[in-house]
Parts: sequence; C-alpha cells; structure tokens
Amino acid sequence: MTPRKDLLDIASLSDEEITFILDNAVPFKDLFRRSVKKVPTLKGRTMLTLFYEPSTRTRSSFEVAASRLSADVTHFDVEASSIVKGESVIDTIDTLEAMRIDYVVVRHKQSGIPNLIARNTRTSVINAGDGWHAHPTQALLDAFTLRERWPDLAGRRILIVGDIQHSRVARSTSHICRRLGMQVAYLAPGSLMPRETPPEIKIFGNWSDAWDWTPDVVYLLRVQSERLTEPFFPSAAEYHRHYGLTDDRLRILDQRALPLMHPGPVNRGVEITDAGMNYSRSLINDQVENGIAVRMSVLYSLRPEPL
Ligand code: NCD
Repeated sequence: MTPRKDLLDIASLSDEEITFILDNAVPFKDLFRRSVKKVPTLKGRTMLTLFYEPSTRTRSSFEVAASRLSADVTHFDVEASSIVKGESVIDTIDTLEAMRIDYVVVRHKQSGIPNLIARNTRTSVINAGDGWHAHPTQALLDAFTLRERWPDLAGRRILIVGDIQHSRVARSTSHICRRLGMQVAYLAPGSLMPRETPPEIKIFGNWSDAWDWTPDVVYLLRVQSERLTEPFFPSAAEYHRHYGLTDDRLRILDQRALPLMHPGPVNRGVEITDAGMNYSRSLINDQVENGIAVRMSVLYSLRPEPL
C-alpha cells in the first residue's frame, strides 16, 4: 500500500486503507494506559491547525494526537491573522508552504476548501470538517468505537438521528458504516432530511418506526443552528418532544441495552437530556478518547511530499 498524502474524505480511501488506520489505532490507544503516553514516531515533523470555523474537541484532539507522536504543533490563529483582512486561502497556503509545515489540519465552513489546499501544497492536508461535505476523522473514530464493541460490524444497524441535512458527520459516518457492512437509517424531521440519500439508507420520520427497525446503536446529532437560514422547527422544545432522546426514549434504549453515540458538542434539552448524558451505555467519552488514537494513526499513515 503506497502511503497517501492527504485525508480529505472517506470515499477516496480503499478498504485496505480504512483497515490499516483502524488497526494501527489499537496500539496507539494502548499507550494511553502508560504513564508516558508519547512515542518518537513523528519527531522533527510539524503539524499546523488551520481552523476557519470554531471547534471544541476536534482541534485539541489533533493537537494531543500530534504531541503524543512527538510532532511539533502550531496553531494558525485565523481570527487574528490577515485572513480577516481579506487574504485568500491560496495566499495563506503559500505562506504555510514557505514555513515547510508537514501536516495541516483544516476546518472550513465551505465544502471543498481542504481539497483546494491539498492540490496546491506538498504538505499533507487533513480535512477536519468542511461545510456539509465530510469529516473523515470523525467517521474513522466512530468506526473504531463501534469495532471495539462489535469486532465484526457486518449486519449491525445504526440509527442516526437529527440534523442530517447539514451534517458532515452524518455523511462521513454513514459512509464508513456502510463500507464496514452495517445497515444505516436516518431519523429526522422533513426539514432536516437531505432531498437525496443513497437508496440503501432507510429513512424514518418518527421514533416509533425507527424502534420497529430494531437498531443496535443510536447516534444523535446536534442541530446545526449556525447553518440554518430559516427556522427548521417551531421551537427547541418542540424538536425535543418529537425527535430528541426524551427520558421515555432513553428508557427504551436502556431496556434494549443499546449504546448511544454523539460527536459533540451536545445541546442539552434539545437532542439529549442530562439523564441521556449520564446514560451508563453512552459511548460519548469513548469517542473522545478514541479520537486521539485514530488521529495518531491517521498522521502516522500519511506522507507529505518530499521537499
Ligand atoms: C461536529 C462537527 O463539527 O462537524 N463536531 C465535531 O467534530 N466534534 C458536529 C457538530 O458540530 O455538531
């Protein structure tokens, strides 16, 4: 397998590459139980995070991952930089190129920006989320978390609930789940369901039909209010009643012993309650921990073009 330069989406990865990244994350995760959690793998390399959109966990997850591989980590402060003064993405890339960065982790509200950057630099580019398009490291960490639970995912059913329309997580995670043989269903109000979805994905408009489908795991999404141009629903309370994981629905989850996932950040009282956050079978913290191991494995698997 020839190492690739960039990670832009799941669709461009071969099955072999997906397996390679997931398998190699296992020994990286084992490191976390040691007092010294660092290996010299990327010593002398530099990773830069370039976030044009705010991020809570993804950026720090990449930074922790890179430092555990002994890479140097720098953050390009978009707010304070000349980007707000109108510098184009390409000009920024020229600057980064001159700095001889090895890996750049990009998040942007516009789909396709990481691809544009990747075509214009020898640096390895990792997409940390572009618009509604893709979030490949989230998908890989979700797949890793699911594989920890069920080593063979074939035939397992994942129900993804919430704002599918604006979710790069829904697109990338459902893609990797199908590649690993899982069955995928979406549950969302009509206003948050994409007009076109792959025919293999089941579509539900209410929880009752979704429960009848007997999912093995429920994956909640945040409503992406920042991407909505008009109100998607009368109120957050109304959304919670119809589509959220209410206490009654949490009881069903518990009775069926189903695990719960969420990429974060959560909106308490909208898609999830305090009780949901404390649910004993929640995998949300596993997703966070696994995110570091999987991102270490991604950095390890990529090769920047030589100088
Ligand atoms: C997601 C994102 O930014 O796409 N979060 C994340 O990566 N942790 C999902 C979201 O913002 O709701």
